[in-house]
Amino acid sequence: MSQEMVTREDMGGGIAVLRISRPEALNALNLEVLAALAEALEGERALGSLVVILTGAGDKAFVAGADIGLMQSFDRSEATQFARYGQRVLNMLTLFHGVTIAAVNGYALGGGMELSMACDLILLDEKARLGQPEVNLGVIPGFGGTQRLVRLAGAQRARELIFTGRTIKPEEAVRLGIGLKVCPEGTVLEEAIEMARTIASKGPVAIRLAKRSCANGERFDLAIGLQEEADLFGECFETEDQSEGMSAFLDKRPAQFQGK
Ligand code: CAA
Repeated sequence: MSQEMVTREDMGGGIAVLRISRPEALNALNLEVLAALAEALEGERALGSLVVILTGAGDKAFVAGADIGLMQSFDRSEATQFARYGQRVLNMLTLFHGVTIAAVNGYALGGGMELSMACDLILLDEKARLGQPEVNLGVIPGFGGTQRLVRLAGAQRARELIFTGRTIKPEEAVRLGIGLKVCPEGTVLEEAIEMARTIASKGPVAIRLAKRSCANGERFDLAIGLQEEADLFGECFETEDQSEGMSAFLDKRPAQFQGK
């Protein structure tokens, strides 16, 4: 049951597409969907996938938020637990050993926008619509919106979006630093796969360590982040990928990375 809520397509070369698949509710996140996503990400970890692309089933929504029907009767403790669980699952994307790309193909509201912001890169279809509309429901974002949006868009812009609950178009999301680029209608997944192929053609160990080092910037202050970066840079020099990458450059030939 849970597997059907997230379907998987293997694109080869260490790239997988995970599709949140509950189109009758615009892919809203209930406990089953969150569990299926966690399970799918565990699977990708076990397979050693280098790039995971996340998108939504149907032609309308990426994810229209956490499930309002489910949350409606929550008491305080249930709501807190739900937020903690959602945050834990979304953190699996942020902490994933490889690169995560959100291919936002439609509505990404509330928990859906939070889901996209937990990914490393966000590509937006022309018809994507983003927002943190929780205040319309009398609640605040609970899957990381008040934290990740501030980091992406800055304190003023994040506050304005969260306080007004307004929905934004992809061009504005890119201008605010929330998304990377706007793709012509219907092409966002294609573009995400193309980007994934470029990333997957590089030294796999370097990609993983670069992701880890970038993520450190959000966890530590600059001095510690720089120290960690130097350590991870050093770690690259114990790999065959480093030896192959530098030899290939000096031999003027394409590198054949093994991911070791
Ligand atoms: N939860 C549960 N069901 C949802 C849903 C959600 N977040 N969003 C949409 N649906 C359901 C609708 O209830 C509807 O179901 P029925 O056909 O059974 O009535 C179906 O999906 C289609 O939705 P609409 O008929 O509303 O479609 P629309 O095209 O008219 O509107 C929309 C699309 C603007 C996205 C609208 O559905 C909407 O505003 N959805 C809610 C968005 C929202 O508020 N998200 C934030 C949730 S709170 C949250 O996420 C908290 C958190 O941070 C953890």
